[in-house]
Amino acid sequence: MRGIKFLTIQTKNHILGKLLLPERLICLLLSLYAKDCGELCDTDRPGTTGPYFDHITAKINCNALFTNKYIDREHGQKKAPKEIPKVLWNEFTMNNRLEVVSYYFDEHSLGKRKHMSVPIWTQSEVNGLISKAKKGRLVGNYGVNNTNALRDGLTHAPGVKNGRVLVIGSVKPWAEACVLEAGAREIVTLEYGKIVSHIPNVKTMVPYEFRMAYLNKTLGEFDAVVTFSSVEHSGLGRYGDALNPWGDIIAVARGWCVTKEGGSLTIGVEYNNNQDYIRFNADRCYGKIRYPYLATNWNQFYRGYSGKGIQRVHVFTK
Ligand SMILES: C[S@@+](CC[C@H](N)C(=O)[O-])C[C@H]1O[C@@H](n2cnc3c(N)ncnc32)[C@H](O)[C@@H]1O
Repeated sequence: MRGIKFLTIQTKNHILGKLLLPERLICLLLSLYAKDCGELCDTDRPGTTGPYFDHITAKINCNALFTNKYIDREHGQKKAPKEIPKVLWNEFTMNNRLEVVSYYFDEHSLGKRKHMSVPIWTQSEVNGLISKAKKGRLVGNYGVNNTNALRDGLTHAPGVKNGRVLVIGSVKPWAEACVLEAGAREIVTLEYGKIVSHIPNVKTMVPYEFRMAYLNKTLGEFDAVVTFSSVEHSGLGRYGDALNPWGDIIAVARGWCVTKEGGSLTIGVEYNNNQDYIRFNADRCYGKIRYPYLATNWNQFYRGYSGKGIQRVHVFTK
């Protein structure tokens, strides 16, 4: 980290991204993330024993996390990076504690979607999804078992019923349908790629809009956060996002910042308590090494059953 501080001073007179070599730019961005992330991004910190895995607490500077515009930056390269750059290896792998395998995708969504047209969500589409969900037959994006695992988690999540809910990461509104079925009053979906919603109580935002709404105090608070198969991709570049070894942790921490006391986080990410790994640049799998940091400050509340996949649902409270 000593070298990183030096770079920050060295580059004060440079225009970020224009005059720096890619490796130096990556180091500079890392230092900018680390500065505002503080102890939240220190993944060496010990935790205390929790019901499912260790519980980690950190002082989170919410204002700094939302003021930092570099967190929501695109990677700016023609193609998503195929390998973890050497200068980021230790941070991405938590000093070699996470296994790394290759599994590559390039699906640029952040900024301008390049792989698909802008999805348009309609009331009739979501009504159809809700009625299938009610019968336990909604396939969603990951099959009926995973959909029903999320539905089960939502029945245990404080704040969802009658609440204002933030959904992080979405392509089709199947998770939104489950959240509405569980009785939510209003949803804001935060997604890298633009989505147009014609559903009156489902608004969509891209990260820039979300960040600005927080900073100009129009975002408001949420009663609950819900995310399924999304934050494990944050910071890996797959969706056009800048490489950020803590992208997942910061995404969940920002959710914590905007949640009311007593509210909840319902999350489905790839999970295996005994085998944490990164499949670069596809995704991360969380176990006893990284899950505690992903869930920093959230209290472990309910562990759902596993759907057919490995995205086991966990519910946390604030
Ligand atoms: C594998 S897709 C699945 C999305 C959702 N679970 C679904 O089935 O419709 C992951 C999505 O999460 C989005 N994503 C990942 N990290 C994000 C973040 N930090 N903020 C907003 N969107 C994010 C990506 O853009 C992508 O569309």
